[in-house]
Amino acid sequence: MIKKKVVLRRRPAGQPVVEDFGIVDEELTNPAAGQVLVEVEHLSIDAFIRTTLDGDEGLHGSIALDTPVTALGVGRVVTSEFDGLQAGDAVFGPVGAQTHLIAPGVMFRKLPDGAEARQYLGALGMTTGLTAYAGLINVGAVAEGETVVVSAAAGAVGTMACQIAKIRGARVIGIAGGPAKARFLTEQIGCDGAIDYKAGGVDAALRELAHDGVDLYFDNVGGELLDTVLDQLAIGARVVICGAISQYNDRANVRGPNLYLRLAERNASMRGFTVDHFMADFPQMEQDIATWLASGQLVMPEHIVEGIEGFPEALIMLFTGGHRGKLLVAP
Ligand SMILES: NC(=O)c1ccc[n+]([C@@H]2O[C@H](COP(=O)([O-])OP(=O)(O)OC[C@H]3O[C@@H](n4cnc5c(N)ncnc54)[C@H](OP(=O)(O)O)[C@@H]3O)[C@@H](O)[C@H]2O)c1
Repeated sequence: MIKKKVVLRRRPAGQPVVEDFGIVDEELTNPAAGQVLVEVEHLSIDAFIRTTLDGDEGLHGSIALDTPVTALGVGRVVTSEFDGLQAGDAVFGPVGAQTHLIAPGVMFRKLPDGAEARQYLGALGMTTGLTAYAGLINVGAVAEGETVVVSAAAGAVGTMACQIAKIRGARVIGIAGGPAKARFLTEQIGCDGAIDYKAGGVDAALRELAHDGVDLYFDNVGGELLDTVLDQLAIGARVVICGAISQYNDRANVRGPNLYLRLAERNASMRGFTVDHFMADFPQMEQDIATWLASGQLVMPEHIVEGIEGFPEALIMLFTGGHRGKLLVAP
């Protein structure tokens, strides 16, 4: 049996290009004691993958050239030599950008029988739904009636953050690129207002939509947009640094906020987080999100790229914004 894997051929200079990657065929062997053979069904396209392609040791480490690109995913056990898993089980884990893998069974989380496995990358996924929940509720302490602004609002974490803020009774303004995404946010995600940052004039649009100031900014983008929102914080505002996707292609020259003194002037705070710090709360988060999904209060739009060969383009798309909601690859 042959598997296919996506390897890093050379380190990207700025924005990755398809030529930075290669697709390699490899003969599959059999799992040894304690191992399982997993067929990957869906791969999560996450921003942290970009940082693993650089040569320096970022938060998520650095992969060697000619090794599979890091990726979280869900799949199905084909053969098991591990007591805790059997053929047919759905699992979640750090599967890498490949169609199959043989790995120790302890690396995987067994998903509930009958569950839609890819939900554990999206709404119930650590890097998506749980991240939005942790950022808004655990870190941002969103409260009813507050004005919340979310950047990269039409993406995976963004669509979740907008909807969770609405469920918590906030007024939500989403910022995303292009008029179609702005419409998507107000018509399908339930935002009270949306701003197309690519059209310019974010400052004026925000002043109009958030006339009493921004109580909570859930930032996925960083850079210039962070300054624009800092300038319009309400007294006592919280700025939650979830990510800074505008900065990941050149981490040696990250643009910091010029207007950080607004934090002092407005008695505001800015706090960053990574979702793994809230692991103890994951069961409660999953339960709440599952309830909202079941009641229809929460939806997770998906963009699925078919075929492992599409993995490099999908990763590039995360930066060019061709998707809405959760971006996945189905190998
Ligand atoms: N703190 C944590 O634990 C944690 C965990 C997971 C993810 N994150 C962070 O969450 C953020 C969103 O990740 P995601 O996986 O949900 O991705 P995503 O939002 O689905 O995709 C990224 C989006 O960012 C926007 N974007 C890209 N470059 C931009 C730029 N220069 N300026 C403005 N917008 C830009 C694009 O949308 P447009 O078309 O609107 O430009 C794109 O759709 C990332 O910053 C990521 O690092 C943090």
